[in-house]
Amino acid sequence: MTVVLVTGGASGIGAAVARRFGHAGAHVVVADVDEAGGKAVAAECGGRFVLTDVSRLADNESAVRVAMDEFGGLDVVHLNAGIGSGIGVGDDFDLDRYRQIIGVNLDGVTFGLHAVLPALTSTGGGSIVVTSSLAGVAPIPMDPIYGATKHAVIGLVRSLAPVFSSSNITVNAVCPGFVDTAILSDSAKDMLRENGLGIADPAEIAAAVEFIVSDGQTGRAWMVQAGQPPTAVEFAPVDLVRSVEL
Ligand code: NAI
Repeated sequence: MTVVLVTGGASGIGAAVARRFGHAGAHVVVADVDEAGGKAVAAECGGRFVLTDVSRLADNESAVRVAMDEFGGLDVVHLNAGIGSGIGVGDDFDLDRYRQIIGVNLDGVTFGLHAVLPALTSTGGGSIVVTSSLAGVAPIPMDPIYGATKHAVIGLVRSLAPVFSSSNITVNAVCPGFVDTAILSDSAKDMLRENGLGIADPAEIAAAVEFIVSDGQTGRAWMVQAGQPPTAVEFAPVDLVRSVEL
């Protein structure tokens, strides 16, 4: 049976992914700092909750250990936990908040990749999906540090895909537009609706994640917007490896 690990699985997009895979019969490990929410989602989908702060390497490793010890393997990983920053680089800069968002949105993905790699390799491969954002492929002036972290994880995904392929591991980014979750304030949602901008249901992103896992491509960044199918971003065709070799 498929074993799925979802970080940030207590709420929003991660909870929808946990539910989608859980209801399809997978064993789901929900990893989150939110114990009450995470336990509730895990119970709903017959899975297991692990209290996990993704900004701590050891917590990521513990979550993987739970999957391996309790369910005997790991097949699908959704590195999804993330926060907004609300800071800029001027008078609105805040060092603690900066460290926090880098810890969750970038360290959390890097540590997650490091932690899951031995498990996926030992079981013959698997599929990793990292939650980036449309803010990972387009500027987001209202939260530039958030945008930097979301661009960064796409760089990780694209750079690691060729490295992982010999271990039969695919790694992709999902880049949602606006989604109806707790990360957006009610006033932001009202403003988006007033301006006719679509807000996706978290279930739409979960369906996209399932598609990305089953599709078999790797190293791609998939944009997902309300009411639209996932579309892979076409990046400039620069082959850095080859240009360095020349
Ligand atoms: P959410 O706030 O509903 O869910 C985020 C989850 O991450 C929560 O369960 C929270 O407890 C967990 N979390 C926060 N810090 C954590 C940590 N240190 N360790 C473990 N878990 C932690 O928000 P949403 O929207 O579901 O966010 C999921 C991902 O989707 C994030 O990476 C976010 O940046 C991304 N995203 C969200 C969009 C939106 O409009 N909602 C759009 C594009 C991307």
